[in-house]
Amino acid sequence: MISVRHLTKRFGSHVAVDDVSFEVTPGEVLGFLGPNGAGKTTTMRMITGFLPPSQGSVVIDGRPLLEEPIEAKRRIGYLPENPPLYPELTVRQYLHFVAEIKDVPRARRAPCVDRAITRAHLTEVAHKRVAALSKGFKQRVGLAQAIVHEPKVLILDEPTSSLDPKQRADVRDLILGLRGEHTVVLSTHILPEVQEVTDRVVIINRGRVIAVDSAQNLSQRLRGYEEIFVEIGGAPVASVREVITAIPGVTRVELEEHGADRITARIHSDLGTDLRAEVARTLASRWRLLALRNESLSLEEIFLKLTTEQESA
Ligand SMILES: Nc1ncnc2c1ncn2[C@@H]1O[C@H](COP(=O)(O)OP(=O)(O)OP(=O)(O)O)[C@@H](O)[C@H]1O
Ligand SMILES: [Mg+2]
Repeated sequence: MISVRHLTKRFGSHVAVDDVSFEVTPGEVLGFLGPNGAGKTTTMRMITGFLPPSQGSVVIDGRPLLEEPIEAKRRIGYLPENPPLYPELTVRQYLHFVAEIKDVPRARRAPCVDRAITRAHLTEVAHKRVAALSKGFKQRVGLAQAIVHEPKVLILDEPTSSLDPKQRADVRDLILGLRGEHTVVLSTHILPEVQEVTDRVVIINRGRVIAVDSAQNLSQRLRGYEEIFVEIGGAPVASVREVITAIPGVTRVELEEHGADRITARIHSDLGTDLRAEVARTLASRWRLLALRNESLSLEEIFLKLTTEQESA
């Protein structure tokens, strides 16, 4: 649905985006992650046709952006870092205005605006002036203007930045509601959020792509082993170690005592193995098994590892 090939942007001698390529499949939600100044906004502005690339190409739903800009842009909804809102208009008037400039046929405008209002949860403020809205509601208006012409592709530049946790959760639900129907690229700094919402992440640093994968695969790739976390009550440390070590497939055990009656353990095994059932059975038949879960690296850890690896390379 989106094909980005060798995109490069130079500002004078500074290379802001350096040979970036990736594909986004129809209905996919792709997270675009990177530290400040990594080139996220610059890449998004090139994908949406707001900034001409120094080199490279973008194809949206089979339409090359450079050769067929009108057809390609028609298929895109864009939430920029600072959406251009018209404070004097009401939410409904503003969305009608956007639908008009996006060439939505006159007869389709009212239903399109209604749909965007519903999806962005703006019904109760639709009659209010944009100027009178709180920041979170303005952000939702920004999202509504991106979807009002029902584009196949949505490019959202930090859609949850500067929102409180409740508003953030609302916007996250909205994005989850768009999945499947729209192809979405979203940038963010809030890493755990990306894990919930996205199918894959592209990580960029200093203008270059340093990883493309699902958050889970990245986590495994960087660690090189599987890890299970368990918490046990009523067990002597020495026998816990002995019993866990004897489970086939276990390569390493790290134990920690918490007071007299609680032990936590990190159990390692080779990549691709899953010892959860066996570990649960073995421990629960002897002691009180209080917790058991698969541990994966958080995106925060992945991100730090990848960006520092690159710096030391
Ligand atoms: N119009 C411009 N002229 C000159 N340099 C620019 C311009 N726009 C961006 N840059 C530079 O390009 C680099 C990438 O900026 P960009 O805004 O794409 O980063 P970003 O990943 O979106 O960062 P942030 O997380 O802070 O939004 C930065 O070094 C920035 O200073
Ligand atoms: Mg940015």
